[in-house]
Amino acid sequence: MNDIAVRTKADSLPLDAFDVSDPQIYQDDTWYPYFARLRREDPVHFCRESRYGPYWSVTKYKDIMQVEVNHQVYSSASELGGIQIEDQPKDMDRPSFIRMDPPRHDDQRKVVSPVVAPANLANMEGLIRERTISVLEALPRGETFDWVDLVSIELTTMMLATLFDYPWDDRRQLTYWSDVVIANVNAPEAPVHSEAERFAELTKMAQALGVLFQERAQLPPRFDLLSMLAHGEATRNMPFREFMGTLGLLIVGGNDTTRNSMTGGLMALSQHPGEYQKLRDDPSLIPGMVSEIIRYVTPVIHMRRTAKEDTELGGKTIRKGDKVVMWYVSGNRDPEAIENPDTCIIVRPRPRQHLSFGFGVHRCVGNRLAELQLRILWEEILRRYPVIEVMGPPQRVYSNFIHGIRSLPVRIPA
Ligand code: HEM
Repeated sequence: MNDIAVRTKADSLPLDAFDVSDPQIYQDDTWYPYFARLRREDPVHFCRESRYGPYWSVTKYKDIMQVEVNHQVYSSASELGGIQIEDQPKDMDRPSFIRMDPPRHDDQRKVVSPVVAPANLANMEGLIRERTISVLEALPRGETFDWVDLVSIELTTMMLATLFDYPWDDRRQLTYWSDVVIANVNAPEAPVHSEAERFAELTKMAQALGVLFQERAQLPPRFDLLSMLAHGEATRNMPFREFMGTLGLLIVGGNDTTRNSMTGGLMALSQHPGEYQKLRDDPSLIPGMVSEIIRYVTPVIHMRRTAKEDTELGGKTIRKGDKVVMWYVSGNRDPEAIENPDTCIIVRPRPRQHLSFGFGVHRCVGNRLAELQLRILWEEILRRYPVIEVMGPPQRVYSNFIHGIRSLPVRIPA
């Protein structure tokens, strides 16, 4: 469907028939007009029927913030359904601190936060730069290649291996497990095709990482995630399911999101050549550009909460037990909060004001690390490749949760 047809469909469909949970609209990149209309006409919208049951859509920046900061009412708890519009099957539930409310959430989050504390980030900067340079130097010139595979996946996989201190040569195993955690099992290209298969693969992941976890428990504490979990008061004795869930969270948290910002950034700049030129002319704009890219790309499409009591939001009555979905893709394009939001503008006055990292107690632990990785990537790109041409459309992921790009053909002139 072309742009005009999508817009016409979104404008003519009765609001009652709106279901923005359909992963197809993210794979086809046709979600914009649906959210524009919801923000205009029914910003807190109830969808009575969907493949995930009834749910509320929260589409404006300020309403999303209200849900984010009010965790007493809007729960992330696994037992109530967790953080995705799709419930995890009860018998395969894998809790982790992103699927918990305070105080348990806070205790576990505190254990892993030091891995991304400013001093540790400063320590890692040299290594991240070295690896980024080696990946960029090895890229082919004068021929078309897949940016996702050779750059975005490679760099984020290296980062994961560093954070976990995982055996270097086996590092793509971590990428595979990340893909398994986020896969939509109905997508033909997914690495697993049922919840049972996903559970079996993640059991193998937890067993393999469990061996390293046990080894690190015997050694003095170090600055890697497995060592931190093995020594943390709140995490050293986690039940197996929770261990599985926590590893899944830490692997996915820093992987797909940053990966898609690396790809989405190149796409956004090539769609906005004037901004790309500004960046070449003045690399000191990189930090602001990085934040703008993270807003513009919005790597996590939504987070879900469940109401613990009756409440009101945007003039609507939400009932206890209702599913409430915060659509970050929409909040980040809300013109009441962000000027000219559909354009990528690398010199915004307050570039970190966006929803891509969430807000409140669950605000992304790794946000500064992600920004660091992206800043270094762009500093090193601009030093060696003033021009990287996007040669064709991206292939997008079939998901309503991770805003993913599977491949992007590019070419660096010879
Ligand atoms: C551009 C990159 C990234 C984006 C867009 C992103 C996005 C998010 C979002 C939306 C949340 C949930 C926020 C909420 O519910 O309010 C989150 C939480 C989290 N992220 Fe990230 N993330 C990124 C990079 C990273 C990195 C590099 C790491 C790991 C080092 C990481 C680890 C986590 C963890 C552990 C949580 C759970 C926090 C909690 O529940 O307290 N993320 N992230």
